[in-house]
Amino acid sequence: MNANPLPSTPSRQSASAAAGAVPDGAVPVTEVVLPGVVAPEGLQVHHRTVPAPAAGQALVTMEATGVSFAEQQMRRGKYYDQPPFPFVPGYDLVGTVTAVGPGVDPVLVGQRVAALTKTGGWASAVVVDAGDLVGVPAGLDPVEAETVVVNGITAHQMLHRKARVRAGQTILVHGANGGVGSTLVQLARSAGVRVIGTASPRHHDAVRALGAEPVDYAAPDLPAQVRRLAPGGVDAVFDHVGGPGVVDSFRLLARGGTLVSYGSAATKDDAGNSRKPILTLFARLLVWDLAPNGRNASFFNIWAGRRRRDRFQARLRADLTAVFGLLEQGVLRPQVAARLPLDRAAEAMALAESGTVVGKVVLTPPAG
Ligand SMILES: NC(=O)c1ccc[n+]([C@@H]2O[C@H](COP(=O)([O-])OP(=O)(O)OC[C@H]3O[C@@H](n4cnc5c(N)ncnc54)[C@H](OP(=O)(O)O)[C@@H]3O)[C@@H](O)[C@H]2O)c1
Repeated sequence: MNANPLPSTPSRQSASAAAGAVPDGAVPVTEVVLPGVVAPEGLQVHHRTVPAPAAGQALVTMEATGVSFAEQQMRRGKYYDQPPFPFVPGYDLVGTVTAVGPGVDPVLVGQRVAALTKTGGWASAVVVDAGDLVGVPAGLDPVEAETVVVNGITAHQMLHRKARVRAGQTILVHGANGGVGSTLVQLARSAGVRVIGTASPRHHDAVRALGAEPVDYAAPDLPAQVRRLAPGGVDAVFDHVGGPGVVDSFRLLARGGTLVSYGSAATKDDAGNSRKPILTLFARLLVWDLAPNGRNASFFNIWAGRRRRDRFQARLRADLTAVFGLLEQGVLRPQVAARLPLDRAAEAMALAESGTVVGKVVLTPPAG
């Protein structure tokens, strides 16, 4: 999808709409633009029209779109793979198909769907390749469904495709109150896995309620605390923090254990090249993985394998459908930290960054 906005105006109406010159099939949209490296209040609300979907595409009217950690990095210009400014952020969304382009089955119109977009989701309507859409079961609340799109796919694939956890094992989940972390904890518990979860003390009750044993991620003796809980080491560590602490994550593994690294939150405020910390991390993981130490280490990237598009889409559809099934059964409890309308994205972002929330801050259609 195209996340770079067309020329637009921050007025209440797009220029073409105001002139009454909306082309056939085009629809007015409200979108949130990240203009450059800015504080959350620097996000801009724009209005424009999007053209009717082209061949193979669908127009999705947004019902819910999430605030992810990726946007915290993007607004600092620190996300590994972000487009040039300005662009519309928004990693995922849930909505209803309102139009389809040539070659797309018209039966899709009216269906509720989810999509992983990486950017572009923070808009009242989004044009997406139809092959990227995944059906959302009827009866699921769109905001609740939204909390498990990028978070659910990431957590499910890391647990079951990367670490291949088994019932009876013990794992360590960093940031267990966060969007991905809280989903990881629940999916692991539902698979019969014991979970130790790091979080700041204010979130320990919430982490306990998810079924994990909390430890303070800022405690100087964090490794010793984990060792007390799992003297033989843990079978897998899920680490989105990177930085120097990833060494402890690797050392905490039991023989045969797996370190799944999937981010570099610790370096988001570092000055300099945004790719350097992640490349340093990749190199470190490779060395650990190749060394004869009886442990595995690798980086998880949700976009890996995207070049083989059909396979990638099929895997994503299978995994997200499985996660939606667990949500429907009540095995997964949606962690909605807050619901705010799209035009309050700046507030939503500040809240997501405040360190006070459990789960996901979700944006809903703009007010008025
Ligand atoms: N590789 C991939 O394909 C992939 C896909 C999706 C997400 N991710 C990564 O997953 C991570 C989580 O994303 P999210 O959307 O779930 O974020 P989120 O909801 O904002 O949660 C972030 C969590 O990290 C914790 N945290 C922040 N700084 C920390 C630190 N220095 N040490 C330990 N914990 C820390 C936060 O705790 P407090 O609330 O106490 O601040 C919070 O629990 C991000 O790093 C993101 O880039 C990677």
